[in-house]
Amino acid sequence: MLRNFHLYVEKDYDALSLRAAEIFADEVNKKPAGAFGFATGSTPIGMYKALIEMQKTRKANLTEITAFNLDEYYPIKKDDDQSYCYFMRQNLFDGIGLSADKTFIPRGDAPDPVAECTAYDEKIAAAGGIEMQILGLGANGHIGFNEPDSKLVATTYYVPLAESTIESNARFFASPEDVPRHALTMGLNSIMMAKRIILLVSGEGKASILKEVLGGPITTMVPGSLLQLHRDVTVVIDEAAGKLL
Ligand code: GLP
Repeated sequence: MLRNFHLYVEKDYDALSLRAAEIFADEVNKKPAGAFGFATGSTPIGMYKALIEMQKTRKANLTEITAFNLDEYYPIKKDDDQSYCYFMRQNLFDGIGLSADKTFIPRGDAPDPVAECTAYDEKIAAAGGIEMQILGLGANGHIGFNEPDSKLVATTYYVPLAESTIESNARFFASPEDVPRHALTMGLNSIMMAKRIILLVSGEGKASILKEVLGGPITTMVPGSLLQLHRDVTVVIDEAAGKLL
């Protein structure tokens, strides 16, 4: 049972990336100067490549948008090659020529992480709210860095990372000890306030958690399941991720 989702099942990762880029670019074309929400992780990389290509061929224009990212490790320096700030410059912002004053990511080097989170939600509100938020899905069902817990937080907040997330993200670091133990992440309400959401999920390894997110009980132990309460979520997956649906 898939409740209110608009579901696209694509043949493979490349097709998923292209479909997601087309849906996103259409939305940007409707609101060229709007605020849009971005995600990190390996899943959206193909979509970002496709968006850069669409911009080159003038099928999309992302130069006027304001970008807000979901999350950032804490503590981490902006120029650390594991920071999400660096990731976004490498994988999208430099490629589309989006100037630094139009890109917002919670600051992993902020002296006061809690104050940084409050300021971040204020910036999103001041930009008029997010038109479309891109999301990936953590192997444990997390969205952003909202980890499975008996409670969830509404606003952007400072969060300890789950042991399973540290293990899963260690593949990008020299060793598991190098993974920061905390993050700053948009909370569930910050995410759910987006007017539209596009969730990207790829690969057989996510098939079981995707099934729970889309059709299982709504529970804080699977943060992605809260998306069942949003009125406009588009889910773009490949056949491998959709295997159990
Ligand atoms: C990280 C990010 C999430 C992302 C998740 C999945 O932990 N905080 O926003 O969705 O990883 O990553 P991947 O797409 O590499 O599976």
